[in-house]
Amino acid sequence: MAFRRKAGAWLAGPCLSLRGPRTLGTRAALAPKAVLPFEAIPQSRSNTWMKTLQIWKDQGYENLHLDMQQNFQELGPIFRYDIGGTPRVSVMLPEDVERLQQVETLHPRRMCLDPWLAYRHHRGHKCGVFLLNGPEWRFNRLRLNPGVLSPKAVEKYLPMVDTVARDFTQTLKKKVLRNARGALTLDIQPSIFHYAIEASNLALFGERLGLFGHNPSQASLNLIHALDTMFKSTAQLMFTPRSLSRWTSTRTWEEHFEAWDCIFQYANNSIQKIYQELALNHPTHYSGIVAELLLQAELSPDAIKANAIELTAGSVDTTAFPVLMTLFELARNPEVQRALRQESLEAAASITDNPQRAMVELPLLRAALKETLR
Ligand code: HEM
Repeated sequence: MAFRRKAGAWLAGPCLSLRGPRTLGTRAALAPKAVLPFEAIPQSRSNTWMKTLQIWKDQGYENLHLDMQQNFQELGPIFRYDIGGTPRVSVMLPEDVERLQQVETLHPRRMCLDPWLAYRHHRGHKCGVFLLNGPEWRFNRLRLNPGVLSPKAVEKYLPMVDTVARDFTQTLKKKVLRNARGALTLDIQPSIFHYAIEASNLALFGERLGLFGHNPSQASLNLIHALDTMFKSTAQLMFTPRSLSRWTSTRTWEEHFEAWDCIFQYANNSIQKIYQELALNHPTHYSGIVAELLLQAELSPDAIKANAIELTAGSVDTTAFPVLMTLFELARNPEVQRALRQESLEAAASITDNPQRAMVELPLLRAALKETLR
């Protein structure tokens, strides 16, 4: 979690007296102290501009999590760091995050994803919930909750995600069976990204992209390429101030804009199609998040488009990385892997009949995913 200086002052509370990491649950014993100035928050000693240079050279910041872990160990559970001239505060313990959220206002100010904002401002496009702040954020978010985040909404699109997950595992299984040794050796990361894009596209727009087949359409291939370029260029641009990267990373900015152009074009076409289909026939069954939002008509078509695009981007790497890291941990822990497989085999029949049962019948899998997210 990171946020700007404004939000920081009152955070420098009781934790400051604690140097070095603590175990969870020790807060209750501490007496509250007066609020200290922002500057009293322990700060990482790494040189901000050397770090920026390193990120530029490495074309991204793949080891961010390791640096944060090191800061946590050296500075304690709340610390400051500065990359590319932007001061940030990290709050590491769940109990502190909980406290922060309890005192949060109705309009929390979130981290600004500058490359995404720059594109929208330049092209005159609206922003969705991930990029908005203040009353406009709240207006959008309250209208998205019922169709996107509520348990009822999840229940509706879960069967779609389930279909894609089953297709994905079947495709992998076929590949294993094609190998005479019954094995499969591959870099799984691109496949998992394809799975996440396919699942999110079906849940959002009610359409398959066909990424697991042999002949995905040119439009699908363009979308994958654009998402890939957009994520890579975001990582390269987000830690450097725009005033600097416009000179040092001109080509990356161009790629970033071209990628968003393609993603917006794709989303535009998909939404137009849904709009026309809804205008011709009133649907008798659920056909995805965007169709529901259009039918409810509580947000303008432009706002629905803005949010659909951010969800297209925001649901891919968030889903893909935890899946990837869970597989990595399971590969390193074969005992847990065996136990999970056993649990899945035992629950398979019941979950096939009713995908919702997965939440109750796979406690070990749930725990493994939660552990990855932690
Ligand atoms: C394991 C996968 C995911 C992770 C780790 C994840 C993580 C997060 C986090 C950390 C936030 C809070 C952002 C903030 O405080 O500014 C968030 C917000 C949100 N996520 Fe996810 N997410 C995941 C999957 C998804 C999926 C699949 C969807 C869409 C169906 C989704 C939709 C949203 C929405 C709508 C918000 C609220 C955005 C806002 O109001 O600013 N997420 N997610």
